[in-house]
Amino acid sequence: MSQIFISHSTQDAPVAQEIAARLSEAGAQVWIAPNSIRPGEDFLAAIERGLSTSTHFLLLLSESSMQSNWVRMEINTAIKLEREGAMQIMPVTLDAADVPLLLQLYQRLSYNGDSGLLADRILEALGIDVRPFWAPRPMEDEEKARIQAGLAEIAAEAAVCVLCPLHQERHMAVPGDGPPNARLFFVGEAPGPEDDRTGAPFVSTAGEFLDELFEMIDMDRRDVYLTNIVKCRPNENRDPKRSEVKACADYLNRQIELINPDVIVTLGRHSLKSFLPKARISEVHGQPHEENGRIIIPMYHPAAALYQHRYRNMLIKDFLTMAQWLNARR
Ligand code: URA
Repeated sequence: MSQIFISHSTQDAPVAQEIAARLSEAGAQVWIAPNSIRPGEDFLAAIERGLSTSTHFLLLLSESSMQSNWVRMEINTAIKLEREGAMQIMPVTLDAADVPLLLQLYQRLSYNGDSGLLADRILEALGIDVRPFWAPRPMEDEEKARIQAGLAEIAAEAAVCVLCPLHQERHMAVPGDGPPNARLFFVGEAPGPEDDRTGAPFVSTAGEFLDELFEMIDMDRRDVYLTNIVKCRPNENRDPKRSEVKACADYLNRQIELINPDVIVTLGRHSLKSFLPKARISEVHGQPHEENGRIIIPMYHPAAALYQHRYRNMLIKDFLTMAQWLNARR
């Protein structure tokens, strides 16, 4: 298991804490003083413990850190551990400090105020496994709450919506489900019978196959947003009518605007039509498209796989390709 020790001066503590938080959010294990010091633990002993249990040494280089005796001591220990093959050193320049000759030998990153971006670059440079592309993006609790409130408003409106005849047979509207900070946004066709009963998307048979596809690529359905082009179930499992899709479009557009996903995955030809009206599913499935500044990845509908084996195979292949394509971009 990798652990990143963050070496910094007292003056740089706010920046160091910010970078530590971003690295932790990205899934990295971080050791930073004073947070990682145990209650009652001697400071020096704690630092030694931190260094000896870490695999990576992130050195925040600044005028103040270059004058700190603590940082100098940590650098010496890190270099010793590096020689023993137990540690990898990564300096990050915070300001225009003179970099000691010894530290000029290392590949360096620099901080430009964007700690999220820096955290990504650190993890990439250190070759530390980070969360997959589709893990929800780091977001302040306040912003999450704002988006969640907007989504709850849409759900409340959909629950009593009478904009199209689908409301007549509705048990429950199925507005969608997923984190407010989702990077991946799946859009299916319409709720199935079990979905209509429970208010949750993709819990019917098609949802079971979708879960299998998620599992195959190590994707957790709780990390992505799932919704449909219409929020109420057409009876007899018929396709949603164009007028119904149009009546419901505002809910979907508002959800997309609020969540602002990086990638929209359409499931089935009806969903595809809402995003790429001229595209044919047989020609575009599995291929990322850019439309209005967003990536759209069209997929066959998982229900199609239940009726025809060749769709099942295509979906499996397309999901595997999508996972590779996305992770190459994280
Ligand atoms: N359940 C959904 O939520 N959407 C579909 O398209 C099918 C089943």
